[in-house]
Amino acid sequence: MRILGTGSYLPQNKLSNEDLSKLVDTNDEWVVSRTGIKSRHLVKDENTSDLATKAAKAVLETTGVDVRDIQLVIVATSTPDVFIPGVAHQVLKNLHIPNAMAFDVNAACTGFIYALDVATSLMQTHAFKYGLIIGAEAFSKVIDWHDRNTCVLFGDGAGTVLLENHQEKNQIIYTSCTAIPDVDDVLKSGGIAVNNPFNRQKTDNFFLGMKGQEVFKFAVRVVCESVNKALVETGIDAQAVDYYVLHQANSRILDHVAKKLSVPSEKFYSTLEDTGNTSAASIPIVLDVMDRKQLLKKGMKIVLTGFGAGLTYGTILIEW
Ligand code: UT7
Repeated sequence: MRILGTGSYLPQNKLSNEDLSKLVDTNDEWVVSRTGIKSRHLVKDENTSDLATKAAKAVLETTGVDVRDIQLVIVATSTPDVFIPGVAHQVLKNLHIPNAMAFDVNAACTGFIYALDVATSLMQTHAFKYGLIIGAEAFSKVIDWHDRNTCVLFGDGAGTVLLENHQEKNQIIYTSCTAIPDVDDVLKSGGIAVNNPFNRQKTDNFFLGMKGQEVFKFAVRVVCESVNKALVETGIDAQAVDYYVLHQANSRILDHVAKKLSVPSEKFYSTLEDTGNTSAASIPIVLDVMDRKQLLKKGMKIVLTGFGAGLTYGTILIEW
């Protein structure tokens, strides 16, 4: 399995910490020191499927792969435009992909890792030639813009990788995804309440609720656990990994993990300053930014680790 290319797309409108301080009682110093975030991109006239389509279009353009050869489209998202059809099906329509297996994956912020894991297996099972694996979120839709505990953290965007089922070259060395029950509801959004002739409830709101410190502790613990398991099972030393591309939630989580693994923090590339937390889109966005900056060289070992609501987490080790 080979990663033929990457793509990403961020909406044009940017909201700075300074802008946010006019909406809620916050300030740039607090947000930067606690999270590393300075601004985030937010949708205006676009929705998740537009972001996914634009990221996918970018990788199709750079690789030159014909849409008729795409046999798999997976979109990792927890903020679809609508319940039906899936974002993957909207991408199919927008890009004129005539015929492909297409579906969405919701594993919250770990969604892209789950999608890449599932895609690797599916492409082998069905001998699919090319697959588009996309992480796309318009997370701003589920944010309460009066809640300073959450609204400073998130942003919108999309990232993608184009996978090629290559017989000689295998870049996906290791995959592992898991979930544990979120018994204390530390990370959760609202949804649609039951409303039928037997039960007429009011529709709930969609806002995200979070117990920040609990999520922080969970993140540091499971990321270290998941990365260490990957290293032990592949026999690769932590120092031999060239980059650690973690889900972008908070720069302090990246620093804590770097310290616990005794790895220099420079190996933890981050886009947080400009993007905030884009949930399932964050890992493929980082990969695309790094690729465009020509930081990724052939043979480099890269650890991708996601964590998030569910509670989900997972690691994929790739060789560039
Ligand atoms: O994809 C996964 C999603 N989530 C995460 O990864 C989140 C993980 N957690 C975190 O990143 C951190 O817990 C936060 C950045 C969310 C919060 O940082 P913290 O150091 O855990 O702060 P805290 O929640 O303990 O709050 C400290 C103080 C509180 O005031 P008091 O009670 O001490 O007076 C908060 O009300 O900071 C206050 N506060 C703020 N102040 C200014 C909370 N949010 C803000 C804000 N601006 N935006």
